[in-house]
Amino acid sequence: MSTEFLDLPQLISAGGTVRLPGSKSISNRVLLLAALADGETEIRDLLASDDTERMLDALQTLGVGVTSSGTECWTIKGCAGVFPVKQAELFLGNAGTAFRPLTAALALAGGDYILKGVARMHERPIGDLVDGLRQIGADVTYLAHEGFPPLHLKPAKIRPDGVVSVRGDVSSQFLTGLLMALPLTGKTVSVDVVGELISKPYIEITLAIMARFGVSVEREGWQRFTVKAGSRYVSPGTIYVEGDASSASYFLALGAIGGGPVRVEGVGQNSIQGDVKFAEALAKMGAVIEMGPNWMSARAPAGGLLAIDLDCNHIPDAAMTLATTALFAKGTTTLRNIASWRVKETDRIAAMATELRKLGGVVEEGEDFIRISPSTVRTAAIDTYDDHRIAMCFSLAAFATPLRINDPKCVAKTFPDYFERFASVTRAAPVIAIDGPSASGKGTVAARVAAALGFRYLDSGALYRLTALAAKRSGVNLSDEPGVAAIAGTLDVEFSEADICLNGQPVGDAIRTEEISAAASKVAALPMVREALLFRQRTFNTAPGLVGDGRDMGSVIFPRAPLKVFLTASAEVRAQRRYKQLIEKGLSANLLDLLLDLQQRDERDSQRSVAPLRQEVDAKLLDTTELAIEAAVNQVLMWSKEAL
Ligand code: DC
Repeated sequence: MSTEFLDLPQLISAGGTVRLPGSKSISNRVLLLAALADGETEIRDLLASDDTERMLDALQTLGVGVTSSGTECWTIKGCAGVFPVKQAELFLGNAGTAFRPLTAALALAGGDYILKGVARMHERPIGDLVDGLRQIGADVTYLAHEGFPPLHLKPAKIRPDGVVSVRGDVSSQFLTGLLMALPLTGKTVSVDVVGELISKPYIEITLAIMARFGVSVEREGWQRFTVKAGSRYVSPGTIYVEGDASSASYFLALGAIGGGPVRVEGVGQNSIQGDVKFAEALAKMGAVIEMGPNWMSARAPAGGLLAIDLDCNHIPDAAMTLATTALFAKGTTTLRNIASWRVKETDRIAAMATELRKLGGVVEEGEDFIRISPSTVRTAAIDTYDDHRIAMCFSLAAFATPLRINDPKCVAKTFPDYFERFASVTRAAPVIAIDGPSASGKGTVAARVAAALGFRYLDSGALYRLTALAAKRSGVNLSDEPGVAAIAGTLDVEFSEADICLNGQPVGDAIRTEEISAAASKVAALPMVREALLFRQRTFNTAPGLVGDGRDMGSVIFPRAPLKVFLTASAEVRAQRRYKQLIEKGLSANLLDLLLDLQQRDERDSQRSVAPLRQEVDAKLLDTTELAIEAAVNQVLMWSKEAL
């Protein structure tokens, strides 16, 4: 798994407008039908993402003319049902919306093709689709395990007009794939759906897009679908892809949790996507929803959100968003009829349950349901299972706590710039970052500013001091970088008004001795130690705000802090202040030694390779050589009025 992560601060509010990227389901269907059609199709607002790239690559490999005029506008030269390349090996990543329909189309297209994907794609069942295709006469071989990709397709011997049965209760993509491919047979074929058809709205999307390309499917309820002989795809000329309704769900939920209104543009009441019904589910939870032809918006209800008990069969993807929204609702939320979650990018029921529990949610999981009761939320590092929706869903939890999202780039599957848009409609708990050399007075200033604003205070130097103390107590040598980092990563610390507790014991002045000061400066130069303390420091970024002091608050830990202060004073003045402090505490001290020590530590803190002490370009300089503490505090408070 990738070691990349994204740390989200706690959010305070949400509001604004987001233009949605194109729908994944519509994009890949339109691409395939444009390729199969007679004539040239200009596709506008196509989703630019991993899944559509897989489809575009595949079509190019098959000899289809594909040209782009900008990332979201493509021209596809249709091959009128006959792919120019008759033998090819296609790699389709983890894109179900490319794999299933291409399997069906290529099985009936009269060539020799191998279809592969990533390991997870090879765990996602495709047997029901293959069974359906074989009934028409397709020649499909499983290259690894019966019922799963990779597949080898050879030219089909199309059987005379007939009826095909396909299961509808595992994935609606099987029926979609079959229906879209049937015009290639040249015959009349009916598809009978066995079992309850799930995700019906996705079939509506399929039928609507087929109709745009000139093929109308006769249907008897949700049981039988017939494609008539002579049906063929014809380009509609230019076609616009709607915004992604599933992607809309995260922003609507943000509005419902974080105040709002958050408005999404690109889908609305005229949408052909079933996931717009997510808005109804959110309304049932109490959110205030408004809608126009091409937009929707959500606001939080005055009394807070309420739990729901919902059959989610009609909104399988967007329903995941309800699972994390449930953390903010009063009562127990039950999402039912979601067995299909288990065969998606990952086993989504299991993944959801595991990650919600990490946050403190009380979760019950069944074969086809999940039940969530909110409880005291705690911070966590969320794993995303190479599943874009898990990453996006859990970003909502940032309203309850700062958290880490591992491998955040998995959102590229459907929404590459999700987190940028997310940031654009949310307001994070602000941070005032105060950096500076030892004994510059920044600790006192930071603590007073925090108290004046009612913010939390982070004394980051204390974490390095505690690490040094804990290392010393457990006999770990300071040159043993992994050993010291392990201590830093598992420090059992509690900060309270009165004191800092290490392993449940107040540390008092034990971390303020000259010996520990020198040791802290040494452990602070170890990159693995800094890495181990990074997330812990960021978890202090809670509502209503934080004042952090240290050396790298503004540069590394909180680079987006709206106010950064570089607080310094001459070395002589700082040595005098330290001297006074020590004497007042009844400790012995020598002014010259203190000055030399300070200078040495300044040197080490500012010359080290990781996170050296320096004034950031966007930091305000506050020199306290001739400034009393009170005046310094007032200056920072004044700046904070402008910046926050
Ligand atoms: O601020 P302080 O004197 O309590 O810090 C103790 C040591 O930790 C000091 O040598 C610098 C280091 N430190 C750091 O490297 N980064 C921080 N954010 C805070 C402190």
